[in-house]
Amino acid sequence: MPRRAVITADSWGQEPPLRGRRAAARRASPGRLGWYRSRGEARVSGLGRGHARGLTDRTKTDDGVVLRVSRATTEAVAPVLVFASADQRPAAAGGHIHRGPGAPGLVGQYVYLAGNGRLGVVAPLGPSGPPQATLLDLGAPSSGALGRGERGELAVLTGAGVGTIVDSAARPAPTSLLATRCWDPLAPSGQPIGVIAYDVTTPLWSDGATKERFVALPAGARLAARHGAHGDLTFPVGTVAVKTFSVDGRRVETRLLVQHEVEDWVGYTYAWNDAQTDAELVVGNRLAALPGGKSWYFPSTSDCTACHTPAAGYTLGLEARQLLGHGGALAQLAQRLPAPIDHEALAKLVPVAAPPPATSEQRARSYLHANCSSCHREGSATGVTVELDLRIDTPLAATGLCGEPHAGDVGIAQARVVVPRAPERSVLVARLRSLDERRMPKLASRVVDEAGLAAVETWIRELASCP
Ligand code: HEC
Ligand code: HEC
Repeated sequence: MPRRAVITADSWGQEPPLRGRRAAARRASPGRLGWYRSRGEARVSGLGRGHARGLTDRTKTDDGVVLRVSRATTEAVAPVLVFASADQRPAAAGGHIHRGPGAPGLVGQYVYLAGNGRLGVVAPLGPSGPPQATLLDLGAPSSGALGRGERGELAVLTGAGVGTIVDSAARPAPTSLLATRCWDPLAPSGQPIGVIAYDVTTPLWSDGATKERFVALPAGARLAARHGAHGDLTFPVGTVAVKTFSVDGRRVETRLLVQHEVEDWVGYTYAWNDAQTDAELVVGNRLAALPGGKSWYFPSTSDCTACHTPAAGYTLGLEARQLLGHGGALAQLAQRLPAPIDHEALAKLVPVAAPPPATSEQRARSYLHANCSSCHREGSATGVTVELDLRIDTPLAATGLCGEPHAGDVGIAQARVVVPRAPERSVLVARLRSLDERRMPKLASRVVDEAGLAAVETWIRELASCP
C-alpha cells in the first residue's frame, strides 16, 4: 500500500544556520522531544546545549532548548518507501510506540527518527525473521528529535520549530472540485451548497485577482471566540472555508481549507479548466501561464500553512473585525457564539484606500495586519528569525517595527525596519517593493501591490517618531 508521512511545521522549512561539527553532531544524535503542558512548551533533551543552539537561541534551559511551539501544518510529499535490510539496523534513539492521534496508519508501531528527514517505522509483529524498518520521507528539512506532542500526536523538531507528523494516506483529496460534492454539478461556477458568503475589509493582496469567499459549517456546530477583543473566531471540526480567485473575469483557482480534526487544517487547491466547468486538484505548487502574458502561482499544501499558521488560528480573514460591515455573515456566525461580540472593542480595520476620517496609520496598519500578521505575530515560527508583531492592536512600540532588522539590511545603510519620515531607508518598504527573494510575503505573489505600498509609505512619511 503506498504511504506517505507528512511533516508539519510552521514555516516554509528554512533551516537556521548550523555550522561545522555542531551541525554534524546534531544530525547524528537524535534526542527526545517532550511536551511540557504547564508551560505550553516543547523541550528537547539528549542534545548538548551546543548542538541545539543553531535551532534557536531564544530560550535555553539546563537540559536542552525551549522552543516556541508551532504545531500542525502540512506538506504533501511524494510517497517514499524504503525497506531497510536486517543489517541496516535503525538507530532507535528517540523512538516510541505511537498511540496518539494524527497518524492512524502508524498506531501501534515503533517509530523513530532515521536521519535524512525520514521516519523509521517498525511493526511489532512483522514477518518472521529480524524486524524490518520502513522509512517514510518526511518531506521537510528535519530534525534532531522525535517525541509526543500535547495530545500524544507525533511531534518532531524541525529547523523552524516543532512540527506534527500526520499520515496523509488516510485522506486522499478529491481530484476535482465537483468531486468534493460541495458544488451543484449543474452550476459549478455558482456558490458552493449550504455556505455563508462573506467579504473582508482588508483582503490579502493576490496580484490584483478578485475573490469570492465562503464558509460552510457542520449543522448545529458552535463557534468559539478567541482572545476576546481580537475578534478571532475558532471554528468547529468539519468547517470548510472556500476562496475562489478570478483574473480578468475568469476563474483561475479555488482554495479549500478544511478542518479535519481539532486544529488539523489542511489546504487544497484546484485549477479551473478553460471551459470553466470544473477545476482539478493541484498537487505540489504550480506556476501557470494566464492569457495576456500574466502568470499565476498555485500554492502547495505546505505553502497554505506557511500563512495559515497555528498562531493565527489557521483561518485568517474569518475574524470579526474583517467581517464587520460586510452584510450578514458576521451576524450569522455570531449566532453560533456563546456570547455576542463586542464590536466597539475591536480595533477597526480599514481598506488601504479608505477616505478620511481613516488615518494613514489605520490604512497602513490594517494592510500589515491583513497581509503580514499571520506570520508576524507572537507565537509564530517566524519569531525565531525576526521579531515583528504586525497585528493591528499591537501598540507601535511593541511591533518591533522601530528596531533594527534581524534578517539583513537588504542593502540599506543604517537600516531600521521603519525609519520615521524616510520610507526609502525602511526595510519594510524595501521588502514590499522587492520581487526577489527579499519579497514579503515570499509566497504566492509576483506583482507589487502599489496601493498597499503607497499606504505604508504615506504612513511612514507622516510618522513623527518611532517609540
Ligand atoms: C501568502 C500567504 C497565504 C498563502 C500562501 C495562502 N493563504 Fe489563504 N489566505 C491568506 C490571507 C491573508 C487570507 C485572508 C484574507 C483574504 O481572504 O483575502 C486568506 C484566506 C483564505 C481562505 C478564506 C478563509 C480564511 O482563512 O480567511 C481560504 C479558504 C484560504 N485562504 C485557503 C488557502 C489555501 C488552501 C492555501 C494553499 C493552497 C492558501 N490559502 C495559501 C493568506 C495566504
Ligand atoms: C509566510 C509567512 C510570512 C508572511 C505572510 C510575511 N512574512 Fe515577513 N518574514 C517572514 C520570514 C520567515 C522572515 C525572515 C526571513 C527572511 O528574511 O525572509 C520575514 C522577514 C520580514 C522582514 C525583515 C525583518 C527583519 O527584522 O529583518 C520584514 C520587514 C517583513 N518580513 C515584512 C513583512 C511584511 C510587510 C509582510 C506583509 C506584506 C510580511 N512580512 C509577510 C515570513 C513572513
